[in-house]
Amino acid sequence: MKFKITVLPGDGVGPEVIDEAVKVMDAAGARFGHEFALRFGRIGGNAIDDFGAALPDETAAMCKDADAILFGAVGGPQWDHPRATVRPEDGILALRKDLDLYANLRPIKVFPSLINTSPIKPHLLEGVDIMVVRELTSGLYFGRPKKLWTTTRGRRGVDTLRYTEKEIERILRVGFELARGRRKRLTSMDKANVLATSRLWREIAEEMSAEYPDVELENIYADNLAMQIIRNPAHYDVIVGENTFGDIISDEAAVLAGSLGMLPSASLSGLPGAGGGGAALYEPIHGSAPDIAGQGIANPIGTILSMAMMLRHSLGLEEEAAAVERSVEGVLAEGYRTPDVAADGGDVVKTTKMGDVIAGLV
Ligand code: IPM
Ligand code: MG
Repeated sequence: MKFKITVLPGDGVGPEVIDEAVKVMDAAGARFGHEFALRFGRIGGNAIDDFGAALPDETAAMCKDADAILFGAVGGPQWDHPRATVRPEDGILALRKDLDLYANLRPIKVFPSLINTSPIKPHLLEGVDIMVVRELTSGLYFGRPKKLWTTTRGRRGVDTLRYTEKEIERILRVGFELARGRRKRLTSMDKANVLATSRLWREIAEEMSAEYPDVELENIYADNLAMQIIRNPAHYDVIVGENTFGDIISDEAAVLAGSLGMLPSASLSGLPGAGGGGAALYEPIHGSAPDIAGQGIANPIGTILSMAMMLRHSLGLEEEAAAVERSVEGVLAEGYRTPDVAADGGDVVKTTKMGDVIAGLV
């Protein structure tokens, strides 16, 4: 089959990790007889420099007309001024909003061969398999007003946390549906002791739970979850929450997997399902890592696994996705490591070599 993929490498290590994901995608295409027609678009800081916009119109247009989008990372210190009027991050935030990619799936798995790489005690990591479902198009990230201004009594800033019932319902439904197909536990994180939006969130979660009698709903304060997820990570199955809570808890959970560089994500505009249709974007959860950009040492696995999620969710290629995931597992078992996951030794290789060996095993 033939598929149209828009590829957005972005800034920092983005282009380096994207190159490897494309390499592995091509290997899967060759093995299974698919053609991936790729179009590359500009986004982030490099697009600001060259076009004055973090998401140039041309890029937005090629994203609307694609079976799926594969994204690297954006950002860097040269665009980081607190008073900057346009920021690299605006590019990815605009894409999420414009394409209504409200459901961000962040699977946290511990590869057995990396169990000693994490700073968490190995016995706590056995059986860890968590799916963080992060609301991605509303909440604190997008609420208005959002601004910084100066008054006669000093400087002020405001962000707004706002949710509609519909926005909460649809993301909770993704959580319930995923839990139903997994270990049947849905943990909903909030701050219902403090925030009105959280009280609404909890009320809707309780109501919906009647539709899912087979799923155990557990409500927990986000701060408490931040502790529990380290104390007893194997307890958790699907975790759902507001945009900001999801952002924070997924970075924290990455420690379980040994490195942020290992973790993929899918941002969907509807319920997940093989070939589910609708706009979808796939990206590693790590950022542009300017401190190591250009050195060829970034871990491409988060991006390669994001590409596998793309094969599964947007293109309906389950067998192909599983083949990519198996080859990542195989290469790690053989001892290949990028520096971020080499705490326990192994054969330390560069980004491109990691891509080569994974592609070679597909
Ligand atoms: C993420 C990142 C982004 C976010 C940044 C780059 C805007 O941290 O995808 O988790 O905060 O959503
Ligand atoms: Mg983040």
